[in-house]
Parts: sequence; structure tokens; C-alpha cells
Amino acid sequence: MKRPLLVANWKMHKDQAECRAFVRGLLEAGGVGECAVVLCPPFTALEATGRALVGTGLTLGAQDVHWEEQGAFTGEISVPMLKACGCEYVIVGHSERRRIMGETDGMVQLKFKAAWAGTLTPILCVGETREERQQGNTRQVVGKQLELALAGSRRDAVPPAIVAYEPVWAIGSGVAATAAEAGEMARFIGDELRRRGSPSNQRILYGGSVHPQNIGEFMAQPGIDGALVGGASLDPHVFAALAAAAGRCR
Ligand code: PGA
Repeated sequence: MKRPLLVANWKMHKDQAECRAFVRGLLEAGGVGECAVVLCPPFTALEATGRALVGTGLTLGAQDVHWEEQGAFTGEISVPMLKACGCEYVIVGHSERRRIMGETDGMVQLKFKAAWAGTLTPILCVGETREERQQGNTRQVVGKQLELALAGSRRDAVPPAIVAYEPVWAIGSGVAATAAEAGEMARFIGDELRRRGSPSNQRILYGGSVHPQNIGEFMAQPGIDGALVGGASLDPHVFAALAAAAGRCR
């Protein structure tokens, strides 16, 4: 049985001192039990957070990356730079980047490939809007996002993947998908990855208004291996409660 995987996406929250305080607070609150945890602070706090994580068993991830290794890309950060800060993971294609920052499927594909090539594990976010769901297009939209992100990757060389199913309408809204909706899409994504030759150690997460009271329902769904957590990952006590609840489901 895989350990539940929790990815904390802090978005544009927390400076270095606040990130260090979170790690202290989380350990004081009892840690994360059986869960595997990736903390994703803003770029400016990666190094400080990485130092605070030494010896804790928790791992570090970034929220975004550029696909080139270096060059004239003002404001961007590359895979080697993230690795030098101690990152092992990177979130790619979060819906806030797609919608607010204009990130295209083509850019997501380049980032995804660059992360793999640089041995950073990409956490690919996919998900439909409310309108797309209402029109019955959820599978089509998510299938297309997956196809475009993986396009050009050799079938026989697909490394372990983490894919987060994050319906856009559930993110930060307080209205999570039902466990059944999330489970159905997680299994769909798993089937799609296997069809493309992905190894069996792929992991599928659910994200969107996850909190300590509903994580159990998601973890009980076959096909869901963990969660990508925004708001409920900001407070160490809430996050510790979430990890404890996720751990109880395994
Ligand atoms: P939320 O965010 O948990 O605050 O809904 C999830 C995400 O954006 O990854």
C-alpha cells in the first residue's frame, strides 16, 4: 500500500521566517505520521525551507519552473536552479498559472519535459472549469490536457508521474468535488497514463478545497493516492490534522 502523498501548495504566501515557523509548528503539532509530504513555498523561501526540512523526512517542491536551463528570461527560474535549492518536485500547469498568467498547453508540455529531463518529479495539474463539467466535457478536457502535456514523450520512457486532478471550480472555492467525482477522474487519469506506458508507480492526487474533514472521503476512493492542498496547508495545526486524517485511511 502506497503512503498517502500530500503536496502543500503555499502559492504567494509566506516569507522565509514564516516558512521556517511552519516547519517548527508542524513538528510540534505531531508531524505528518505515515504521509509522504512535499512542501512548495514561493521561490524566495525555497532555500530557507529546504534547510528547515533537513532530517525531517519531508521534501521540497517548487510551484513552477521555466523549461530552459539558463538565458535571457527575466524573472524565470530553471530546473538546475531549483535542484540547487534542494527541490525534488515541481508543480506544473496549475490552473492559476494557466488562467491568470496565460500559460498554454504548449508551455506546460515544455515544463513537464524539462522537469523530467532534469530529474525533478513534475506534479502535473489538470482539471476542467465548471462550464466544461456542466457541458459534459470533463473527460475530454482532462484527457486533452494530459495528452498535450505528455506529447512527444517516448512511450517506453515515461518516468513515474504525479498527476493532480484539480477541477478549477473547486480550487479555493470551499466547494470540493464529491469523492465519487474525484475518484472517477482519478481512475480515468490512471487509465490514460497506463495506456501511454506509464509505470505502475504513478500517483494520482485530488486537489480543490481539501481539508481535514473531507480528506478521508477522497483517500477512501480507489485510484486516489493523496492530495494537493492550498488553503488548508497554510496553518501547521490544520495541516497536521489533515495528515493524521489521511494516514487513518490507509
Ligand atoms: P485549495 O487549493 O486547497 O485552496 O482549494 C488547491 C490548489 O490550488 O492546489
